Amino acid sequence: MNSSHLGLQINAERFRANFDGLLRMRDGARRWFLETAKQAGLETRVDGAGNHSGLLRCGPSGAPVLLLGSHLDSVPHGGRFDGALGVTAALEVLQTVQDHGVPLNTHLEAIDFTDEEGHHVNFVGSLGLTGKLAPEHLQTPRGGRERFQDALRRAGLSEDSLFAAGRSAATLAGYLELHIEQGGLLAQREASIGIVTGIVGIRSFKVRFLGRADHAGTALMEHRLDAAQGASAFTLAVRETVMAEFPGCVATVGNMAFEPGVFNVVPRVVTVSAEFRADTEATLDEIEARLAQQASHAARRFALDLEIQPLDRTAPARMDDRVQEAYARACRTLGLRHTFLASGAGHDAQCLAPVCPTGMIFVPSVGGSSHSAREFTRWRDCVNGANVLLHAALTLTCI
Ligand code: HGY
Ligand code: MN
Ligand code: MN
Repeated sequence: MNSSHLGLQINAERFRANFDGLLRMRDGARRWFLETAKQAGLETRVDGAGNHSGLLRCGPSGAPVLLLGSHLDSVPHGGRFDGALGVTAALEVLQTVQDHGVPLNTHLEAIDFTDEEGHHVNFVGSLGLTGKLAPEHLQTPRGGRERFQDALRRAGLSEDSLFAAGRSAATLAGYLELHIEQGGLLAQREASIGIVTGIVGIRSFKVRFLGRADHAGTALMEHRLDAAQGASAFTLAVRETVMAEFPGCVATVGNMAFEPGVFNVVPRVVTVSAEFRADTEATLDEIEARLAQQASHAARRFALDLEIQPLDRTAPARMDDRVQEAYARACRTLGLRHTFLASGAGHDAQCLAPVCPTGMIFVPSVGGSSHSAREFTRWRDCVNGANVLLHAALTLTCI
């Protein structure tokens, strides 16, 4: 990097105003992003996968783009920082480069990826952009095909447009993402910045336990085919199996849907929605096999039928060494203490990693809370993260 840029800092006031502006607009977050990018003088675009971008043409014509971003979608009752911090920081980095007229050898693109949280299809935006979206990804959306098709129509997208969003790797100089840690390691290690070494793989699935509806007052306990019993036994077994056999891995039952789902009917069907995570495909395969055995065991124990429906599979990913080094250098330049850590949360970066040099940083989450209204990150940590993002981008692209 040109030494004249070593002292460059983001505009913390504008960053704050944008972050607060976004919070006020959470329902129209994506529109807010395009509008703010446009007002900042960036070229805006929405691609066939619904990804929203602001582009700063700061490199030579025909140069590739360095992507910076995250996501503006959220989980129900989620926090204010997950994803939103990375998108607003990306915007701020572009505006800072623009303010100072820094000549780079790539263009910069701030991007908000579609459906990072997997409301329908986990990471559909980043998979679409990388051209790695496969027809199988669209066959089993988490909320069903019909709801997914509806959502596509409402967003003005289609399955064809999702596939058409793919960009060639040659056009991508890399992908950088700032995110909150969503855990407690940074605080424990007294570090301001976490440089991510790798991201876990994630698989999700539904298990349906099928029994028989009966009268809750007259059906004898020993004669029931109670789907709730199988689902409950399975839920406990998920925790016990992963803790006993796969230390360091996690599995979560996030939902149980009861049919008919009323007080006075023995449940005929219970659908369990679950996911598990590990850092290698081999371990993911082993967990998947063991959880399938546990589901069969629970169904047999209560004389129930069983259907297992695997849903999405996201591969684990390693972050690029050169990008990690650029972050470390940025931390040294800015006098910020950093540490290296693996991510137990999923991120769009894991979809970008197979196609271009990709790396992430984390800033501390107070109390380690996320996917909860308790989620909080101190503002000075957000500013530190945005400055590290800026300096890493300059290190990687400065002429
Ligand atoms: O689920 C995740 O790990 C992420 O927040 N999408
Ligand atoms: Mn999240
Ligand atoms: Mn996130």
